[in-house]
Amino acid sequence: MLVPASVSDYRLLAERRLPRAFFDYIDGGAYNELTLAANRNDLDALKLHQRVLRGASAIDTSTVVLGQKLAQPLILGPVGLAGLFARRGEVQAARAAAAAGVPFCLSTVSICPIEELSAAGTAPFWFQLYVIRDRGYAAELLARARAAGCTTLVFTVDLPVFATRYRDVRNGMTGGAGLFGRLAKTWEIARHFGWLVDVPLGGKPLTFGNLAKAVPSARSLEAMKGWVDAQFDAGVTWKDLDWVRQNWHGHIVIKGVLDADDAKAAADIGAGAIVVSNHGGRQLDGAPSAISVLPRVVDAVGDRMEVLMDGGIRSGQDVAKALALGAKAVMLGRAWTYGLAARGEAGVAEVLALLKRELTVTMTLLGAERVGDIDAVALDH
Ligand SMILES: Cc1cc2nc3c(=O)[nH]c(=O)nc-3n(C[C@H](O)[C@H](O)[C@H](O)COP(=O)(O)O)c2cc1C
Repeated sequence: MLVPASVSDYRLLAERRLPRAFFDYIDGGAYNELTLAANRNDLDALKLHQRVLRGASAIDTSTVVLGQKLAQPLILGPVGLAGLFARRGEVQAARAAAAAGVPFCLSTVSICPIEELSAAGTAPFWFQLYVIRDRGYAAELLARARAAGCTTLVFTVDLPVFATRYRDVRNGMTGGAGLFGRLAKTWEIARHFGWLVDVPLGGKPLTFGNLAKAVPSARSLEAMKGWVDAQFDAGVTWKDLDWVRQNWHGHIVIKGVLDADDAKAAADIGAGAIVVSNHGGRQLDGAPSAISVLPRVVDAVGDRMEVLMDGGIRSGQDVAKALALGAKAVMLGRAWTYGLAARGEAGVAEVLALLKRELTVTMTLLGAERVGDIDAVALDH
């Protein structure tokens, strides 16, 4: 039995517990996974600048993002289908986030609906919306999020189309599996007994909670893909963001920006923050890593809005590197999802505690007592 010491260990536990297709759905990226790899490689290539004997003994990892106090500079980013990895997975993750004092962002394509999260009484959570063609449906989702007390809307702009993930195709996740494919899938599911009892047999029926009317079943990615193909709108422009502004009076975060001019456009429409992100390497394969474009985006808009980033964050050291390059905070995608798939709420809580311990040690060795003290000097050039 592996005693997990790092996020990579939770990844291994998740791999053991989930049927292959679901693990690959989390772990994989678009096409040749070049951008997925770049996110990690570019973080690894950055060197931290050690300082000694600076009396950094009272480390404070807290920060403020969009007026909200965070116990550490991170947010659980939107991850679709999280309720397939553990029973009512979004509720479990939101509970762990609330206990750890960091926000949880619910995906449009979650298993648990908005109302299930608010009924679980976790904490004000954030809600993520995709660019949907049916404005009536989008307005309804925003009204539901508002009624549930969501403070912050994360508007994801880097998925006007669905990029292909070869692993999902090979695993039959996007349909088209022949008889042998279907048998292999059934065998995979049967041999992951712990997951089988926890998720498909143990909980409520699996549906896309927020889209139950539009997509009746969440048993295959195909259903979601069909809905995405019909509903996601590649014709949307920055002008259409006025519609979002009019329909949402809380904070707006634009997620999926890699270009300085796009970042300026986000500031112009009154977004409070952007997330520098390539969707965890799941969309434009060949795009640069998020960490490599972060400095130029911060240069362009850092004085007008808060700049967040995600992509490849797996440790407290990674968090410090992103902060050193100007991020106010980071979003986690796979890191919390591995924790959830490995051990449910406890796994997410453990991953968050682990990252906090790692950030605390890193700050001590950088000689930075507060997250605001982590700046470009924290990197060795
Ligand atoms: C399994 C999975 C599902 C995701 N679903 C969504 C989603 O529904 N909405 C969204 O805006 N981003 C989604 N993302 C992207 C994440 O929010 C985030 O940008 C990305 O995972 C960050 O990279 P990391 O996983 O390396 O931390 C998803 C990512 C993964 C891994």
